[in-house]
Amino acid sequence: MAISQELKIVTGNSHRSLANEICKYLDTTLSDCEVFKFSNDNIFVKYNENIREKDVFIIQSISTPVSDHLMELLIMIDAAKRASAGRITAVMPYFAYGRSDKKDQPRVPITARLIANLITVAGADRVLTMDLHAGQIQGFFNIPVDELSAVPILAQDFKENGPTNSVVAATDVGDAKRARNTADILKMPIAIVEKQRLGNEEKIGSGTLIGKVKGLNSIIIDDEIGTGGTVISAANILKENGAKDIYCYVTHPVLSGNAAKLISDSVIKNLVITNTLPITKKQTSDKLRTVSIANLFGEAIFRIHNGLSIGAMFNQKII
Ligand code: R5P
Repeated sequence: MAISQELKIVTGNSHRSLANEICKYLDTTLSDCEVFKFSNDNIFVKYNENIREKDVFIIQSISTPVSDHLMELLIMIDAAKRASAGRITAVMPYFAYGRSDKKDQPRVPITARLIANLITVAGADRVLTMDLHAGQIQGFFNIPVDELSAVPILAQDFKENGPTNSVVAATDVGDAKRARNTADILKMPIAIVEKQRLGNEEKIGSGTLIGKVKGLNSIIIDDEIGTGGTVISAANILKENGAKDIYCYVTHPVLSGNAAKLISDSVIKNLVITNTLPITKKQTSDKLRTVSIANLFGEAIFRIHNGLSIGAMFNQKII
């Protein structure tokens, strides 16, 4: 592979404000790349500056409209490849379809794997992402994947703004590790709400609680919030079992349908999210607060570009 000299950062239409914030950390600006749709619904991409042999980072969360933003990313990778970029990194703060990561019913796809294949075949050399639905999705790619975690940032926020005397709660047995990591940082006990999904509908059934929450405040930690059903049902179970105030900390604010309103009307005191995805006015509420992961991505890009360790960012608390 040719040695990439200069850093070039570009973005599609999914989350330009995050891309600008990342550039600010790196003391640079976005390179000129146009990405738009023709009247026939076909997407067009053109790099308006030379990227030959450059180290190109394409920042594109797979946000709503998911199919359009995924397609933009694939076409941007293809265009960069054909423009002789030295190295192409797909920076996806949010990787959609992460929940489709296994064949858990007859005749269903593994869409996360399909998308990993598409990104690789399009020509990406590496991937930078955050809090995948399951860490194993890294293995769907045959190229290097750096997965950042928002947990240290979210835990720090709770340390600064949340109450003491709390317990960290997972919304699902499969999410217990994330809760354990958070609890280790906060030096708090953990509890687990066992979630039951009802078929393929985005509805949550009743769940069982493992652990003690009575008389304690709770911090629910999750990778993403979609309809809000998971965290609201977990919060209700925690309340029924005697928990005091309930705070939710979630990395990816998908906030589909009227999730914001449901959160607003729920027993949840506060919902803290990151900016891996843009949020609209309809998705905001007085219970919602955002913490930025832009500097974390900026530092990771700096380190990938300069061949430095990403792991050290977390071990040495660089951000
Ligand atoms: C699923 O297992 C994830 O960790 C989240 O709990 C889920 O994606 C949230 O979805 P919703 O808000 O629609 O319940």
